[in-house]
Amino acid sequence: MVQKKIIKKYKICVIGAGHVGLVAAASFSELGHRVICVDSDKKKIEGLKKLIVPFYEPDLEKLVRENTKKKNLLFMPSLDEGIKKSDVVFIAVGTPPQPDGSADLTSIEDVAHRIAKNLVSYKLIVEKSTVPVQTGQKIKETIQRYKKNTTHFDVASNPEFLREGKAVYDFFHPDRIVIGVESRRAENILKEIYHSLKASIIVTDINTAELIKHASNSFLATKISFINAVSRICDCAGADVEKVAEAMGMDERIGNQFLQTGVGYGGFCFPKDLEAFLYISKKLGYDFGLLREVKKINEEQRVYFVEKIKEHLWVIKDKRIGILGLSFKPNTDDIRFAPSLDIIRLLLEEGARLTLYDPQVKKERVFWSLRSQKEKSSSEETIAQIKFAKTPYEAVKGCDCACFITEWDELKKIDFKKIKELMHYPLIADGRNMFTPQVLGKMGFKYIGIGRV
Ligand code: UGA
Repeated sequence: MVQKKIIKKYKICVIGAGHVGLVAAASFSELGHRVICVDSDKKKIEGLKKLIVPFYEPDLEKLVRENTKKKNLLFMPSLDEGIKKSDVVFIAVGTPPQPDGSADLTSIEDVAHRIAKNLVSYKLIVEKSTVPVQTGQKIKETIQRYKKNTTHFDVASNPEFLREGKAVYDFFHPDRIVIGVESRRAENILKEIYHSLKASIIVTDINTAELIKHASNSFLATKISFINAVSRICDCAGADVEKVAEAMGMDERIGNQFLQTGVGYGGFCFPKDLEAFLYISKKLGYDFGLLREVKKINEEQRVYFVEKIKEHLWVIKDKRIGILGLSFKPNTDDIRFAPSLDIIRLLLEEGARLTLYDPQVKKERVFWSLRSQKEKSSSEETIAQIKFAKTPYEAVKGCDCACFITEWDELKKIDFKKIKELMHYPLIADGRNMFTPQVLGKMGFKYIGIGRV
């Protein structure tokens, strides 16, 4: 994977073994650096020492295994030891959303304290977590305030643009690497760390780097909501959104990515980052109303999809519906803010009987998420009635509708002949426009897509 030889091996500590932290730690070690990955979750660290990766991410386990064996990658629960033994400390702890939309920066503040306490030699402190603009400044002030000696340090921002499910690939093939720095020393260290990747490096100040991350995620979410809004007009006018998106995407100024219409975006990044960007913009004096509309269109898209099913089945109460694909996108077992959860909740409200299937998501995780949803509309009793299938075929058995929510390869390649025999009524609700309506029509299926003729 490494494309050029590294020019200097750094001792790196990555704080946080979540999606961003663990991928970064394993990848830095693959680049040849000596990495200590720390996390306050002792169980997670014990698991990682036994090479158990706590979430599904293609190729990550291999990187962890190989680099642990080479002793380039170490896992430990002690933040203090990890910090003391390193030259560069990457902060990759969680910044979860608070009820008002702002990012909870408690963990970042806590880590800044610990760094101050353990500042025994020069260190470069790098923010990897997605944080609101001006957080770097606060980290710097906190370390300055609590450090016990005159040791020098630098703070930098190095936002991550990895996509879940493609995170390892993205790390080694970045479109750009953004580094926000205040000193030449910090700039050189970060350039040396990434030296072996052939990527454009954009050097900015810290505030600008932080803002690039929020602006990028919000822009991608805007693109998705834009095409989803267009899909609604297509449905009204009898036009085909897939063709509209294809032709729009051929214009190089627009680009063909993130124009896939469907039940909208989910995951732990877009929804939370959009809220946080809205919040910080307002706090700084600008009301970014466009983002409110992006969020509204996204939420409406799930409701619209369920309305379409209702329109077709007339009464949903007591109908068996199979939900295929639960993760917020393919190649991950992550269901945080997944569209499937909203769709499940809406169908339960209508009295549907549900059978769920996903190639990676575990039953317990779905039930836990449904129970902890903000809107507690689905009672314990209704949740307990949900069935979980081991195969997509088992999920559609006896169903009046098969709802495809996530475009897993396994689901794209499903055997529709078999499905037809198993279903009670052959209705396909395609939440990602992944099938060809005409083909399914010829096979005798009724088809619901979004913005398609
Ligand atoms: C996103 C960004 O793409 C990454 O660059 C960023 O690093 C990451 O957030 C983060 O902030 O950590 P991720 O959330 O993993 O990555 O997933 P995406 O591939 O961006 O998809 C997000 C959601 O948008 C998914 O639910 C997906 O189904 C949906 N989507 C995506 C669409 O509905 N239509 C599209 O055309 C593309």
